[in-house]
Amino acid sequence: MGERTILITGASDGLGRLVARRLSIAGATVILHGRDRGKLGEVAKDIERESPNARLLIAVADLSSLAQVRRLAADIHESADRLDVLVNNAGVAGLVDRQLSADGYELHFAVNYLAGFLLTSLLLPLVQRSAPARIVNVSSKGQHQIDFTDVMLERDYDQLRAYRQSKLAQILFTFELHERLRRRGDARITINAIHPATLMDTKLVKALWGAPLTSIEDGAEAVLRLIDSAAVAGTSGRYFEGFSEATALPQAYNREDRFRLWQLSEELVKC
Ligand SMILES: NC(=O)c1ccc[n+]([C@@H]2O[C@H](COP(=O)([O-])OP(=O)(O)OC[C@H]3O[C@@H](n4cnc5c(N)ncnc54)[C@H](OP(=O)(O)O)[C@@H]3O)[C@@H](O)[C@H]2O)c1
Repeated sequence: MGERTILITGASDGLGRLVARRLSIAGATVILHGRDRGKLGEVAKDIERESPNARLLIAVADLSSLAQVRRLAADIHESADRLDVLVNNAGVAGLVDRQLSADGYELHFAVNYLAGFLLTSLLLPLVQRSAPARIVNVSSKGQHQIDFTDVMLERDYDQLRAYRQSKLAQILFTFELHERLRRRGDARITINAIHPATLMDTKLVKALWGAPLTSIEDGAEAVLRLIDSAAVAGTSGRYFEGFSEATALPQAYNREDRFRLWQLSEELVKC
């Protein structure tokens, strides 16, 4: 781990926080991303109490603003000379009423998917310079088909559908970026999506479902495997549920829809 630099979005709470802690203790340089500097400072203090030599960087950005995503990427280009692993983990759920991002997009779609799409694109040159490198998209087993006639869910908004649509979008993006990298002969970056564990004990689950079924440790182990295990070193363009490769909704395997989402995303991030 010693030479590796790892960015975890949404490291201020839940799964991201635990994964960051584990990686720091193992000796990686960890970039803790969150939207609240105070909360990130507390996370850093906790890690440093346990591991006084931890190498931590703090990066603040609200992912509901594409301008802040761009600034986050610029900050990372400035402060890190390498990026061995990018973990797109930050996520929101449980928005009973339809809400819009700073750029006017449905908030689950904007935070859970579009921010990661833009951040990954902007950081890709740094990831490429650090290869072999890995990208891990923390998605979910809870998925909903994307209706391209109503991506922003202006008709019939439903919080579960909004969350699930954003999680499937992450998987389409994972498969599409994998193919694009391979087409240009770049096999040194792997990209995979994962459902970490079902209903872990986090505030996201409390907001959406109430009672948890699993611990954060369960999900963290599965995500850490994709980040670090030699067993998946060359594995790319896959979707996992915990430790097992799994099948996502059929739309994820539809090339036309993946291309369509990519094109739409490029348009949406231009704003
Ligand atoms: N929990 C589960 O059972 C489960 C199952 C499947 C998938 N997942 C996925 O796991 C990931 C982590 O979720 P979690 O359960 O650990 O939830 P969590 O405890 O609520 O953590 C979510 C993280 O995302 C950050 N975040 C949310 N909105 C943000 C925004 N606009 N800008 C920047 N950061 C933002 C949060 O920051 P704050 O600390 O400031 O709120 C927090 O650090 C999510 O992608 C989720 O979809 C979770």
